[in-house]
Amino acid sequence: MTGSATDAVVLVGGKGTRLRPLTLSAPKPMLPTAGLPFLTHLLARVKAAGIDHVVLGTSFKAEVFEEHFGDGSSLGLELEYVTETDPMGTGGGIRNVLPRLRADNVMVFNGDVLGGTDLRAVLDTHHSTEADVTLHLVRVGDPRAFGCVPTDADGRVTAFLEKTEDPPTDQINAGCYVFKREIIESIPSDRPVSVEREVFPNLLSEGKRVYGHVDTAYWRDMGTPEDFVRGSADLVRGIAPSPALEGARGESLVHPGAGVAPGAVLVGGTVVGRGAEVGAGARLDGAILFDGARVEAGAVVERSILGFGARIGPRALVRDAVIGDGANIGARCELLRGARVWPGVTLPDGGVRFSSDV
Ligand code: GTP
Repeated sequence: MTGSATDAVVLVGGKGTRLRPLTLSAPKPMLPTAGLPFLTHLLARVKAAGIDHVVLGTSFKAEVFEEHFGDGSSLGLELEYVTETDPMGTGGGIRNVLPRLRADNVMVFNGDVLGGTDLRAVLDTHHSTEADVTLHLVRVGDPRAFGCVPTDADGRVTAFLEKTEDPPTDQINAGCYVFKREIIESIPSDRPVSVEREVFPNLLSEGKRVYGHVDTAYWRDMGTPEDFVRGSADLVRGIAPSPALEGARGESLVHPGAGVAPGAVLVGGTVVGRGAEVGAGARLDGAILFDGARVEAGAVVERSILGFGARIGPRALVRDAVIGDGANIGARCELLRGARVWPGVTLPDGGVRFSSDV
């Protein structure tokens, strides 16, 4: 069956290595973000844009998605799952879901992008330009770490430049595309394929109609701890939009069943998960406590993620760090600047310091 409606495909099969050790127990799109699995925010946006049929391209920890979202009816969606035994790459993942697609045009999303762009406007650009593929492009301050995508005066894409030191444009690939179905049919199905490095450059050299839809809406790739912390805080503070979050937003979000002692300070978009505990005088600034995590009295946690059931001892300092599930950080320890503690590891009291004062 084909029709004029639009299908959505969300790629969620990556291993999320940059977010280890959190992604050892949960796939990146399922990590709790402002109290919901990250993917819930994206699926709510897809639904709000009027798309009802969504196929998830899964691979790593594939079963976790269906266990949580089922047939999608709780989100008002019809959700299907297609699993790659071995990851087929971003292009291979799109090709792999082809048998489940029904529409003539397909909107594809990276499953780790937090965004506020008007998805209907991206679709309008696709239709009005009669494009084969339309890419959502976002303008960023420093484009060097991203795929740069220059366009001509008509919005037609002129090149794909992966992570270059001297980018000719501040427009980057935002990880959201609209494909004509026949373009997906042309992607090889028998080997891994990258959509960024292979499919898009090939389409350009074949003279296909590839257009960009450029805007400056909120956008963040949640792939690194730093971005995950920022994106989560932006959701809590109402800087990042999400149709899945209702009610007032503020400096912190404390979930039911969590305990916060008097005198604790929670600022900077901090999230305290279900059953988590914060002791007296602790200071949490942009901290993310997954369910059951614990910060003892007088500890300081800044711009860091504490995995399920992790514990930070009294007067410890955790800044720009990731603490794995069930890890136990002793009193007065200091963990700074990108430190990562693996799940279940115990650091004794005072066991790691960056300074000589006790
Ligand atoms: P890193 O290992 O930290 O780079 O993360 P990642 O594995 O998620 O890779 P990346 O951030 O580049 O992936 C962008 C999006 O595509 C994410 O939502 C991934 O889940 C998804 N993705 C990446 N590779 C594959 C794949 O082989 N198959 C499928 N179905 N999805 C993929």
